[in-house]
Amino acid sequence: MKVGIIGAGMVGSAAAFACVMRGAASRIVLVDLDTARARAEAEDIAHAVPFGHTVQVDAGDYDDLKGAGIVILACGVSQQPGETRLELLGRNAQVFRSVVGEVMRVCPDAILLIASNPVDIMTQITRDLSGLPASRVIGSGTILDTARFRWLLGRHLGIAPRSVHGYVLGEHGDSEVLAWSSARAGSASITSFSQQVGRPLTTETRAEIDTGVRRAAYTIIEGKGATWYGIGAGLARIVAAIASDEQAVLTVSCVSDILGVKTVACSIPRIVGARGVSMELLPDLSPDETEALTASAQLLKDTVTQVEV
Ligand code: LAC
Repeated sequence: MKVGIIGAGMVGSAAAFACVMRGAASRIVLVDLDTARARAEAEDIAHAVPFGHTVQVDAGDYDDLKGAGIVILACGVSQQPGETRLELLGRNAQVFRSVVGEVMRVCPDAILLIASNPVDIMTQITRDLSGLPASRVIGSGTILDTARFRWLLGRHLGIAPRSVHGYVLGEHGDSEVLAWSSARAGSASITSFSQQVGRPLTTETRAEIDTGVRRAAYTIIEGKGATWYGIGAGLARIVAAIASDEQAVLTVSCVSDILGVKTVACSIPRIVGARGVSMELLPDLSPDETEALTASAQLLKDTVTQVEV
């Protein structure tokens, strides 16, 4: 599948690299206002092809996106140290007003995959600007937070993160919800499993893991200025699910009604395949988790209503 990536910054380039290494796409076109950067990133990533999969990687302009099945929007500004994702909204909404129009001019049939933060709001803005059905406008959402949750739980329990089945829901941001009550390892509840392996999930451990997920980006940004490997791999995971019509269950962001909050983009487990999102699967939640997810969805709803598309 041909994939367009708008924004050849660290996130867009990392996504392109991850797609090459997992063979998620057959062709990648990087588009950026900084054409020299786009060309350099494309050439550098192309040199990884012999170590990964045969993917044609080029830089180009919007017209070169023609025929793309997926267009990743990784353009705009990113968080500065201490800045929340929601504080990027005004600047990135302005960028998207021009970008989405150009993408739709060339690729009206593509699935749009949004990475720019605040990703949930940008997903809803893109849906409104593009006029596409919600199922074809997907935000990376909490796919990265879910990965962080699984990685930290796996490290505590001494098992592979892929053997941990737990989700982070709601906003990709400070109000996100770690769904502890439905988390499992193997086929056991996470609580039972942790006791069986003698690594109980104490209140303190749970709080450490929560902070490790919720504050991950802030910590990384303090140290290196931005994050890109985790989100790049998460975007490639979504591309792979679409390109192979996998019907994978992933916590991605998409406009829908969540727990009574109407028409809002936030993340719950959704089935992702060739046609985008086909179904959503609200996990069993504790009363506290239900309350927190409702609050997260409402925060996003209140925020997006402040934006003039
Ligand atoms: C992060 C960015 C992608 O969480 O929001 O690393």
